[in-house]
Amino acid sequence: MDHPSDDTRRSTGTAGGDQPAPRKLHTRGFDEVLALVLTRRAALVAGAGLLAAHEAGAARQPPAAAGPASLLGFASVPAAGADRVVVPPGYRARVLYAWGDPIGASGLPAGEPAWRGDASEDAAAQALQAGMHHDGMHFFPLPARGADRGLLAVNHEYVDHGLLFPDGSAGWSASKVRKSQAAHGVSVIELGRSADGAWQVVRPSRHARRITANTPMRLSGPAAQALGGTATGTFANCANGWTPWGTYLTCEENWHGYFGARKRGEPPEHDTAFQPDELERRYGIRARGDYIDWHLHDPRFDLNTRRDEPLRFGWVVEIDPFDPASQPVKHTAMGRIKHEGAAPARAADGRMVFYMGDDQAGEYVYKFVTRARLRPGRDAANRRLLEEGTLYVARFDAAPASGRRLATGRWLPLTREDPRLAARFASQAELLIATRIAADIVGATRMDRPEWIAVHPRRTGEVYCSLTNNSTRGAQGGAPVNDANPRAANVYGHVIRWHETGGDAAAETFEWDIFVMGGDPAQGDGGRFEGDFFGSPDGLAFDPAGRLWIQTDISSDKLGKGAYQRMTHNMALAADTRTGELRRFLTGPPGCEITGLCFTPDGRTLFVNIQHPGETPGYLSAPGPDGRPNALSTWPSGQGHGPADDGSTPPQRLRPRSATVVVTREDGGVIGGG
Ligand code: FEO
Ligand code: CA
Ligand code: CA
Ligand code: CA
Repeated sequence: MDHPSDDTRRSTGTAGGDQPAPRKLHTRGFDEVLALVLTRRAALVAGAGLLAAHEAGAARQPPAAAGPASLLGFASVPAAGADRVVVPPGYRARVLYAWGDPIGASGLPAGEPAWRGDASEDAAAQALQAGMHHDGMHFFPLPARGADRGLLAVNHEYVDHGLLFPDGSAGWSASKVRKSQAAHGVSVIELGRSADGAWQVVRPSRHARRITANTPMRLSGPAAQALGGTATGTFANCANGWTPWGTYLTCEENWHGYFGARKRGEPPEHDTAFQPDELERRYGIRARGDYIDWHLHDPRFDLNTRRDEPLRFGWVVEIDPFDPASQPVKHTAMGRIKHEGAAPARAADGRMVFYMGDDQAGEYVYKFVTRARLRPGRDAANRRLLEEGTLYVARFDAAPASGRRLATGRWLPLTREDPRLAARFASQAELLIATRIAADIVGATRMDRPEWIAVHPRRTGEVYCSLTNNSTRGAQGGAPVNDANPRAANVYGHVIRWHETGGDAAAETFEWDIFVMGGDPAQGDGGRFEGDFFGSPDGLAFDPAGRLWIQTDISSDKLGKGAYQRMTHNMALAADTRTGELRRFLTGPPGCEITGLCFTPDGRTLFVNIQHPGETPGYLSAPGPDGRPNALSTWPSGQGHGPADDGSTPPQRLRPRSATVVVTREDGGVIGGG
């Protein structure tokens, strides 16, 4: 998610005496710091060249000066997009699963409940259809059903009430709240190929399932008992993760905004009964909530009476997509933050590691290391792996004065073995519920909004994290410049990477550098990268061949304006991490974010989410005076997925819809390759 209030949350939420003391400002100049943290690319390119030569065998050694052959084998698309998904020549993009499409629930006729197009469905129908604002997702092959079957788990991060209801949020009511809650959460759908080879949703499917803000869940780990052992629902599900034992991880990001104390009719901030305490302030809980007034009709979200309920959010949630009857589990051992995602890696000794960002200006990067080792396949013991382990937070130390050495960093354990944490927290449960405060105490490095993290599929221990941007530098409570976040005003964002010591994901130390910095040479800030310009990196994913895919989330109030003048549409780019070269692969419809990108194991099918097409500056769409909810975009309804945009369709039915898109090559080849 990226909406205008994102960047103000930290200062609003922590305007008390509990701020971590600002660390000393670096006095080195930007270029000097950058020279120190960018030195690694040249070394890597040289190293990759040597490796390629080694692998090719002596007889076919390329000349040393030639470097590695590019991993990128497609022609880049222009930055200026259209009201459709634009992909390179030779590629095809099709809409697979849009908001309101039926999931294919078993027991219902295929195609029911059908999308009506005018947003007149009730909560019960919405709970059997795709939710809104598709975000992180993962493809799970179903080998028992053949090579061309699989399950797709899709997050529905948040909603746009201007599109979800025929009359927007007018006449706010309990039934509207229920529908809004039903449009959040996760979809599990079954995919297969039709006779012509095209991917489609299998309907009906016994796997088809919606998880919503009202689905019963279990809590696990050190804080479970203190929170009563159970939770109801998940929402604000941003990015994701997955496990080798075949489960999906959905991550709760901007959950704080769903709770409020203000009464109907009271102006914002006028509530006098509710005053947030230190913990609530640190997470941005406030009387007026944020953008969703569920609390006016659902007492569970009313902070006047239920101050415990927000403690059940901010977790990583594990879902078994293969067992539709299974109850999702919230794992408290993995910490309570505004989780972006949970990227898996395997430690040298067989334990599992999950990398996680806390997406807010000045927040931290974490990793969780399981106590037990992974067992083969779907062994039941793996189901307990996320219940016990060590949570760490990252400290990125200053770049060494000599460019000959890489900057280093350390993973700081968040346990009561640290006397500072033992002095503050009476139990690990208390510590985990207040993960951000624990991270403040141990001196973690404040970052420019950590979004997705991706682990290189071949180079063990090499990890990439997008830091989308930071507009709060210099503001009260804003994080100061540091070597890992070196821009005075980080308008375009960057991607940082680290290499775990010894290539072991469980290592407590690492070396780091900055992989690319966003920018646009035409605007006087060219960033640091080779190839196509970009900004506000968010989604990150590796394909099986080791190409890094970067997806952007330039907020709708910045798209096409100022520093982003030439970036009128959000995009996905592929990167060759050995050379730093970027090529723009895809642009989306106006106003949308590109996210969720993932692949089939053979790399020949790419799934990607178009989130909030047609979103207008100001974040939520509202039907205009003429009732049109689609001032900016009619995608995908206007291009064949739904009713045609030929004037015969009432504008109410042409509301833009978040959707999963499937991209394939016309020649059936590997996506992104030559
Ligand atoms: Fe939901 Fe950090 O984006
Ligand atoms: Ca977004
Ligand atoms: Ca995101
Ligand atoms: Ca974002």
